[in-house]
Amino acid sequence: MSDPAFSEMLKIKTEQVTDIVAGFLPAEEGRQRILFEAMNYSVLAGGKRLRPMLMQETYRYLGGAAEREADLLNPFMAAMEMIHSYSLVHDDLPAMDNDMYRRGKLTTHAAYGHAVGILAGDGLLNMAFETALKVKPVSEQERGSVFQALKVLSDKAGAFGMVGGQTVDVIGTGKNFTEEELMFIYRLKTGALLEASMMIGAILAGADTETVKTVEQVAADVGLAFQIQDDILDVTSTVEELGKAVFSDEKNKKTTYVSLFGIEESGRTVELLTNRALDRLSAIGGKCDEDRFLKELLLSLVHRTK
Ligand code: IPE
Ligand code: IPE
Ligand code: MG
Ligand code: MG
Ligand code: MG
Repeated sequence: MSDPAFSEMLKIKTEQVTDIVAGFLPAEEGRQRILFEAMNYSVLAGGKRLRPMLMQETYRYLGGAAEREADLLNPFMAAMEMIHSYSLVHDDLPAMDNDMYRRGKLTTHAAYGHAVGILAGDGLLNMAFETALKVKPVSEQERGSVFQALKVLSDKAGAFGMVGGQTVDVIGTGKNFTEEELMFIYRLKTGALLEASMMIGAILAGADTETVKTVEQVAADVGLAFQIQDDILDVTSTVEELGKAVFSDEKNKKTTYVSLFGIEESGRTVELLTNRALDRLSAIGGKCDEDRFLKELLLSLVHRTK
């Protein structure tokens, strides 16, 4: 998006989210220091911080209490970025996409070796739950929300969510997927963590079940659009701009939305899905100024260049 006010706000918010995440990362000390270094390297290398930002913006959009953010929301934001970063560390491994650059730097396994790369991913996954469990609920209602949020986090990250999607993605290398099969993969490998991010924001804000369901649908569309745009960028961008390899999908003989439908049609689908998400979002919440930012953020993803 070219709106300078939005871009400036996005930059500030990205830094704020990074600070929150960084505050939960481990000290680089002890006998396993190399592990902590590799974990911190992968998280702090950069990245858009989209998932924790969406969690925070959804919480605010639905009227979550500002004074409860530090105790309730921040640990989950950090946990989500840890899980996302671990998924990238493992996605880049030689046994998976075999990529050398991520977030403008060498991938974690390229910088630290394969074994430490694998273990850094494992460490981040576990630390995500250690971190989420640092929440400090103060009422029965908050304890209930935290329990629900933990359930969403574990479900969406696991075999029925991101890990499941990554599995179907990698075993399908070299196969021709139908649109339906591809949508299954995208919904899980990418959609699941975006769904969890927005749902947890809604749950911690105290949203009712119906609203959380709507948020899940919104995020599911955002997730599909996001992965299709990622496929487009894989064939239209550069390593310098993206900070990660381009033509990775072609190298790995992946069916993608772009390989099935072409760049133009893919772009139209990204817009269509985003508009549907925005329409659904308008039907709920939006009690404060923050709603404009959440919508602009979702819109900005349509034409994102990295
Ligand atoms: C990359 O996610 C992996 C996909 C699901 C396409 P992002 O594009 O959000 O990566 P970062 O966090 O900005 O590095
Ligand atoms: C991976 O999809 C999604 C994850 C769950 C990590 P991709 O393999 O297309 O992601 P990039 O392009 O490497 O970021
Ligand atoms: Mg992959
Ligand atoms: Mg990849
Ligand atoms: Mg990709």
